[in-house]
Amino acid sequence: MFSKGVRAELKDYQSSIMSETASFTIDGTVYDYPVITGTEGEKSIDIRRLRGDTGYITYDDGYANTGSCTSSITFIDGEKGILRYRGYDIEELAEKSEFIEVAYLIIYGELPDRDQLVSFRNLILGNAAIHQSMFHSFAGFPASSHPMAILSAMLNSLGCYYPHMATNNREQDLEHLDIAATILISKVRALAAMTYRMKLGRPFIYPKGQLSYCSNLLHMMFSEPYADYTARSRVDRALNLILLLHADHEQNCSTSTVRMVASGGANLFASVAAGVCALWGPAHGGANMAVIEMLEAIHNDGDDGTRFVEAAKSGDRSKRLMGFGHRVYKNYDPRAKILKEASKKLFSSMRKPDPVLAIALKLEEVAASDEYFIERKLYPNVDFYSGIIMRSIGIPMEFFTVLFSIGRMPGWIANWKEVATGKSPIHRPRQVYIGSARRKFVPIEQRG
Ligand code: CMC
Repeated sequence: MFSKGVRAELKDYQSSIMSETASFTIDGTVYDYPVITGTEGEKSIDIRRLRGDTGYITYDDGYANTGSCTSSITFIDGEKGILRYRGYDIEELAEKSEFIEVAYLIIYGELPDRDQLVSFRNLILGNAAIHQSMFHSFAGFPASSHPMAILSAMLNSLGCYYPHMATNNREQDLEHLDIAATILISKVRALAAMTYRMKLGRPFIYPKGQLSYCSNLLHMMFSEPYADYTARSRVDRALNLILLLHADHEQNCSTSTVRMVASGGANLFASVAAGVCALWGPAHGGANMAVIEMLEAIHNDGDDGTRFVEAAKSGDRSKRLMGFGHRVYKNYDPRAKILKEASKKLFSSMRKPDPVLAIALKLEEVAASDEYFIERKLYPNVDFYSGIIMRSIGIPMEFFTVLFSIGRMPGWIANWKEVATGKSPIHRPRQVYIGSARRKFVPIEQRG
């Protein structure tokens, strides 16, 4: 793992204070670095002095072995399939809580009491209105625009309507964080619904005071000025579950992006807008769309999934089984387990079952007994079932990742807050340069 002349070994020193140290032997010299142990016993070597001491840096393309921060928001044990928000098991939160309560927990660290929850909810509802000028911005987007591009642009421009909350002066931005958080949780929903309506050429629908956060989202998307859409409680519950299960997921690509942007001092609005861009990619949040495309393609080919699984083993990235595998989970993603059950319940209440659910279950069954997937610990991830549920609710495919963004908003806010209240320096990784060595400029007439 280490280059010539470099050896790393971890030693436990039973000193009087039980401190642990990791020693690196580099070019014959031993360097000691402290070991940091997390709440759940996770160990890391604090190498912040490494380059100054030795001239070496570490190389970890993709950061799979790198802790970029300490955080007290979310704990994941990928080997055991454990996910906890602020110490609470995801299974318990999914059963007993709901998205807005979990959003509060994630941002503030504790479950709210009744008054705190009511006031949080009221602030979210009260902030749903969209400034008239924003309607003009919407009018400027072609109807063919991808909703994730619109969402990111609009979230960033939202800061322009609250300049005192988006100053890039940490103290000032933090002073307004409570209200900025509720503005974002409320307006990300309004912007998503507005984008949907704009693409259809229909008027914007305002939320209703008596509806839950999720029922309001569906109302704002699907109601018409002359006919209300009323979400069934099963649908409300399924959407609520999707948002809750996406609310945070420690240092994933989009959250790391939010922290990276925040580390430079950027305000919350700019940072979460960057998070939306990071989430868009098919290896991250965009996978829920790719899953449905894959299931539809399998269905249209008259395959039951068996042929597709064979092709996925070729090592060709474009043939991967979408919704399978995870950088962190080397066991069943606990969120996928919860959503699998939820999708079965939702589908059992439908008169005409969606054929893609049967294909999804078959794919899972085939992969679960295939050596290729077993060896590589490839299990369904959250995107495998969330797309199926959203499709059954009537959410268009290109809005799947938008809904993921709505769910992830509390996590992005909480992570921004940790950076803004912490002492972390600007995030600025190093690199190993492998380009040309120094050379002389060649005039154009002498170039071959
Ligand atoms: N289908 C087939 N083979 C796979 C898959 C898959 N979905 N995922 C990984 N592999 C293979 C890969 O080819 C490699 O095989 P080998 O060792 O023979 O070269 C091995 O498994 C390890 O793959 P990796 O790319 O090194 O693993 P990673 O940790 O870098 O990638 C991943 C994780 C999620 C990007 C990847 O599993 C993947 O592309 N999955 C499909 C896309 C997907 O569902 N993404 C959503 C992730 S969950 C949502 C979120 O939290 O953002």
